Amino acid sequence: MVGDKFMAEKMWAGRSAGVTDQVADDFNTSLPFDQRMYRQDITGSMAHATMLAAKGILPPSDVDTIIDGLSGILADLDSGKLDFSAGGEDIHMFIESELTARIGDLGKKLHTARSRNDQVALDLRLYLRDEVKSISDLIRDVIDALLLQAEAYADAIMPGYTHLQRAQPITFGHHLMAYVQMLLRDLDRLSDAAGRMNISPLGSCALAGTTYPTDRQMVADILQMNGICENSLDGVSDRDYCIELQAAFATIMMHLSRLSEEIILWTSWEFRFVELSDAYSTGSSIMPQKKNSDMAELVRGKTGRVYGNLMGTLTMLKGLPLAYNKDMQEDKEAIFDSVDTLKMSLAVFAPMVATMRPLPENMRAAAAKGFINATDCADYLTKKGMPFRTAYKITGALVADCIRDGLTLETLPIERYKAASELFEADIYDEISMETCVMRRTSAGGTSVDSVRAQIASVKAKLGE
Ligand code: ARG
Repeated sequence: MVGDKFMAEKMWAGRSAGVTDQVADDFNTSLPFDQRMYRQDITGSMAHATMLAAKGILPPSDVDTIIDGLSGILADLDSGKLDFSAGGEDIHMFIESELTARIGDLGKKLHTARSRNDQVALDLRLYLRDEVKSISDLIRDVIDALLLQAEAYADAIMPGYTHLQRAQPITFGHHLMAYVQMLLRDLDRLSDAAGRMNISPLGSCALAGTTYPTDRQMVADILQMNGICENSLDGVSDRDYCIELQAAFATIMMHLSRLSEEIILWTSWEFRFVELSDAYSTGSSIMPQKKNSDMAELVRGKTGRVYGNLMGTLTMLKGLPLAYNKDMQEDKEAIFDSVDTLKMSLAVFAPMVATMRPLPENMRAAAAKGFINATDCADYLTKKGMPFRTAYKITGALVADCIRDGLTLETLPIERYKAASELFEADIYDEISMETCVMRRTSAGGTSVDSVRAQIASVKAKLGE
């Protein structure tokens, strides 16, 4: 539908002839990637046109024609009747020239009291506002999958680790609920950043505002934004929202990556704590016995590119004088890539977690080795009045004896306990059983089954489930 080819005279032909070399065009164009903002571009233009009519800047009948034209373009792009093959410098130019091709010279009036500088800033905010909603929904799905598993395995005893060394007994449910807390903070971070982002830059125009009697608040209201950028220079050059969101995205990926790393460990023969569903694992082309945690590995690997996009955007902005500079066109590919990567990662993660099969017998067997009840043995003496440091020393010596003699604290004979301290009685075996170690940790946020169930209930209440 676009009459003039991209290579022909540019819409901005003014001082210059507006004819650029093909290589320059290819280098300059953002349409291949900013076309994904067509809906937001059209919605923003409709709000702008409505305001132009309300303020008497354009006659209402002209604006009606413009809005009809824009609706037609939106419908045709949605249905696929219109595509982007005609090319163009960017999505803004593409839609404006398509509008002009459809309704004639009236289409050229749309850009009154507006610049692409405030237009692109608005489009990106609106686009990211929509994406933050989908990303938040996907995070909720991962949280739901974790809650499901945490509930089912609230009492499955496993070793808790520090330094990747078995440390103290915990439950699998408790372990998973730690990730739920991380993702809850992620949701908070997203909505916090989205609130700050939901401010309209439109009407900042090129950089200095406009001589037309515009009503910027009206445009913001139509677009359901919380207000307007109060400085026009800032309005066109602020990309803080890209930074904040990408930092939040990087943090989410970091959380998914840590859980991925654990899933990769847990599915190994060394651990065997979890088996992934065949639907979310792969085989090897040469080793018939292999079942690999590719999804988790990819999430871990893709975390790097999301970090990279954040660093790229920070670096792109660091030397830019006010106001708009073309460098800023680079904001989009970075954040779009992060949005896509994050959405795919979350989309695969939720069902992978929901369908994984925990193997509590193996967790329990691992918990039985590694002396992870040693703290409780020391606490036993402490509760009988011995200073903790002394109890710690005595227990350490008992552990060393056990290692030497191939015993565990559970199988060490009572005489040997008594030889180490008169305070030991026969009830020591009950006191250091894995079940006791877990059940007794009833402190708020602790690993006891009751405490884990309380955590689950609290999260569900927070999420309104
Ligand atoms: N495609 C441009 C971008 O993404 C739109 C803004 C262009 N403004 C300009 N004055 N060249 O940043």
